[in-house]
Amino acid sequence: MKIYLLLAAFLISSFTFASENDWGRTGHRATGEVAEQHLTKKAKEKVREILNGMNLAFVSTYGDDIKSDPAYRKYNPWHYVNLNPGETEYSKETANPDGDLVHGINTSIEVLKDKSASKEDKEFALKMLVHFVGDLHQPLHAGRGEDKGGNDIQVRWFGDGSNLHRVWDSEMINDFDMSYSELAHNTDALSKEQIKNIQKGSVLDWMYESKKLANQVYDSVEVGEKLGYEYMYNWFPVVHDQIQKGGLRLARILNEIYR
Ligand code: ADE
Ligand code: ZN
Ligand code: ZN
Repeated sequence: MKIYLLLAAFLISSFTFASENDWGRTGHRATGEVAEQHLTKKAKEKVREILNGMNLAFVSTYGDDIKSDPAYRKYNPWHYVNLNPGETEYSKETANPDGDLVHGINTSIEVLKDKSASKEDKEFALKMLVHFVGDLHQPLHAGRGEDKGGNDIQVRWFGDGSNLHRVWDSEMINDFDMSYSELAHNTDALSKEQIKNIQKGSVLDWMYESKKLANQVYDSVEVGEKLGYEYMYNWFPVVHDQIQKGGLRLARILNEIYR
């Protein structure tokens, strides 16, 4: 009997983990690695100093790793942003009072800019910022609250049970089967002008862009649909694009902080 209880506990905990594992490790690391390629010399030096020699890819999954520690529970809602039903505009007044992804990014930036913040606080803020900018570029992290950003939309992925959120966090990226560095070094060749265009705008602009994409993602499936090769073919290019955009924008934020 005891062994069944243990097995049940393990299954429940592994399901919980899977649904909360965000952009997946590979997506977060690739975003961090793209950013590394676009840091100024000064920003790169500051980043290395704050991270004790580590790079952005290495620390990019920290935001998910701390979810297993109850001491960090307050950061759980900072990984996503939902507008209330019927709302099309984000406002501080109607935003989640526990914080959200926009708040998470802005708070991290403030700490990094704050001359009186401690080294430890800066290290924490930078690790979280890398993670959150990645999350912002997973469209369903700006999805609808009522289905938890697609977590409640069950689908089949190559025959196995999954959900829409997980397909976008990790199933497509894992099935593409490239390492994070291979992904980060196989990005579209862009002109200076194109890079500038992607890097312009605000955190809120990027949130609205993700939200718009999320609406297309919601329209891309029926509940219970069997997804596989055709879905990958249609949508992995968007994932690939979002990783590159996330990296470029993270670099812009850091280059601006360490000007
Ligand atoms: N993960 C957990 N809840 C979520 C939500 N409401 N939106 C997006 N991602 C989530
Ligand atoms: Zn996620
Ligand atoms: Zn996250």
